[in-house]
Amino acid sequence: MRCGIFSDVHSNLEALETVIHAFKNERIDRYFFVGDAVGYGPNPHECIEIIKGLQGVCIAGNHDWATVEKLDMRYFNPMAKEAIRWTRLKTSREDMAFLDKLELTFIGDELILVHGTRQEPSFFHYLMDEIQAKEMFGIMEKDLAFVGHSHIPGVFIKKKSSIRYLTCGDIQLEPGCRYIVNVGSVGQPRDGNPMASYCVYDTEAGIVSIKRINYDIESTQKKILQVGLPVFLAARLEAGR
Ligand SMILES: [Fe+2]
Repeated sequence: MRCGIFSDVHSNLEALETVIHAFKNERIDRYFFVGDAVGYGPNPHECIEIIKGLQGVCIAGNHDWATVEKLDMRYFNPMAKEAIRWTRLKTSREDMAFLDKLELTFIGDELILVHGTRQEPSFFHYLMDEIQAKEMFGIMEKDLAFVGHSHIPGVFIKKKSSIRYLTCGDIQLEPGCRYIVNVGSVGQPRDGNPMASYCVYDTEAGIVSIKRINYDIESTQKKILQVGLPVFLAARLEAGR
């Protein structure tokens, strides 16, 4: 089976459409969405419709939960707050119902999904270092986990008692190892590379690949400005920060 795994779309329709097109070329059988459909960007409704249409497994991000008032807004910076308030005005009742139903974790037969960390999913911690990775490896129900949230793609690999971190490329899964894969962000990458990030997992080959693709950033930026969202949210897209 070929799995398409993606996260942090953040209402960026141009980036999402580009990634979905790439997934179609990859002959994806099953989709996994790791949270944050909305927030920051100008097309929340359209992005939710596309994500729903994939009929895959979807979990909640902090922006999704904040939009439906399941997460306190004090955890967000002023620009994120403004975008969440704007998003609430631009989403339909069905959109809100979709966001409201998203759960914090998914535990499948061979992989788990969580937006932040497995240890405290409702706190939406950023998994950024080996200390947190070690804690998560210790409680993971499966050997393979996919996360998002930091918008920085990369893979933590645990082999016996050592943990190493790789920023990109193809990972051949090995028996006896555990993996936490951050699939990066479709709609707002923050690793200095503005290209949309997504992940393909081939279960038969045992290969996890993090991929990047260019999309029409300028169109998204224009829309962000047109709808009156903060200018910084447009500017950061081309910087990938
Ligand atoms: Fe996010």
